Amino acid sequence: MPDAAIVELSLEPYWMPFTANRAFKRAPRLVVAARDMHYTAADGRPILDGTAGLWCVNAGHGRAPIVAAIAEQAARLDYATAFQMGNPQTFRLAAEVAALAPGDLDHVFFANSGSEAVDTALKIALAYFQARGEPSRARFVGRLRGYHGVGFGGISVGGIEPIRKAFAAQLLPHVDHLPHTHDLAHNAFARGQPAWGAHLADDLERLVGQRGAETIAAVIVEPVAGSTGVLPPPQGYLERLRAICDRHGILLIFDEVITGFGRLGAAFAAERFGVVPDLMTVAKGITNGAVPMGAVLARRGIYDTIVGSVPAGVELFHGYTYSGHPLAAAAGLATLKLYRDEGLFARAASLESYWEDAVHSLRAVPRVVDLRSLGLMAGIELESRPGTPGARGFEAFVECFNRGLLIRVTGDTIALSPPLIVERAQIDQIFGTLADVLKRIA
Ligand SMILES: Cc1ncc(COP(=O)(O)O)c(C=O)c1O
Repeated sequence: MPDAAIVELSLEPYWMPFTANRAFKRAPRLVVAARDMHYTAADGRPILDGTAGLWCVNAGHGRAPIVAAIAEQAARLDYATAFQMGNPQTFRLAAEVAALAPGDLDHVFFANSGSEAVDTALKIALAYFQARGEPSRARFVGRLRGYHGVGFGGISVGGIEPIRKAFAAQLLPHVDHLPHTHDLAHNAFARGQPAWGAHLADDLERLVGQRGAETIAAVIVEPVAGSTGVLPPPQGYLERLRAICDRHGILLIFDEVITGFGRLGAAFAAERFGVVPDLMTVAKGITNGAVPMGAVLARRGIYDTIVGSVPAGVELFHGYTYSGHPLAAAAGLATLKLYRDEGLFARAASLESYWEDAVHSLRAVPRVVDLRSLGLMAGIELESRPGTPGARGFEAFVECFNRGLLIRVTGDTIALSPPLIVERAQIDQIFGTLADVLKRIA
């Protein structure tokens, strides 16, 4: 039975993000609690979390050490500005995140979300070339089907057409896009990284030819595109992008907001693929989703160049009231400890082949046109209904929720990313439910 307070809820005042508000308020889906792999719906039903919240709750929900760290921090030091002041927790977290990152990605700028991290990274790229005396390097290159949050910087370099179209009147002016790497004709049902498509990185050479390398500051990509349906990079693609950036002095930014903190069975995608970017954006899993936080990791040379470029005073005119918030820092430290103590990144790696087999068990299900997975991520692409793209996917989402499973849909592609504590039996439950639901949905 729903809790009385929920029955009395007024749904109208809350303008919900990325939600069909009117439809939701006619038939709301509310959760009231969460623990480990499950939410509790308002009617008391357990809902298996197939999406780690929104790609963020990598250690599972309501984990005691994180809850305790947040409570303790709130009682000891609830807030302190990060401007011209510091608190030990934030310095500790920066050091731990830097130690986890590959190469010399060893300086950390804190923000409060992935979107803020992305806009911060773009600003750092501009500041770097200003500091080097190369102010003409001011263009950015994103990729079609890229998602980099919702700041004006993020939607400008992002490649999701409906979002770009909605705000086309005021996007950043000097941005180009690489082609995306999704191609069913070549790669449908590939396992892991598809064999076809490394050459798509060469489009950066075309842009260099067209614009001049001396005008391009940075290229930003998600190592595995997440929000547009889980698109693992073709074999050799990221390596090629890295080489082209190196050849032309262009910074490479990896947006690891989804792929960071164990999703691919390593701390970062950069580690898994052996390709180190110049800047890396993270968020979500850095605090297990428990307190909002984002961050940019910068290679030492970038930090040194910017910080060394002014004789004294503030070096980068950027920062947020809640940059390095003590609660987020405490949550982050407890989260990283939990990841270490439970070996969760290695656990994700050890589950990858079981997960991949489970994903591909849907091969014979009608209207499934592609299956993709890497680490503990998966994309299940359904054929769209003529004239109503997204309708089949949304129906699957609602039906799965009704049957006690949370999935995520982007158009007609189902995206899965369970907490890294998922058990094999729960993987079976996810794909068993999905197979049933997809067979029933016409
Ligand atoms: C790759 C990537 N970058 C940026 C973002 C934006 O993060 P946030 O929603 O925390 O602003 C997301 C969110 O899903 C993301 O997947």
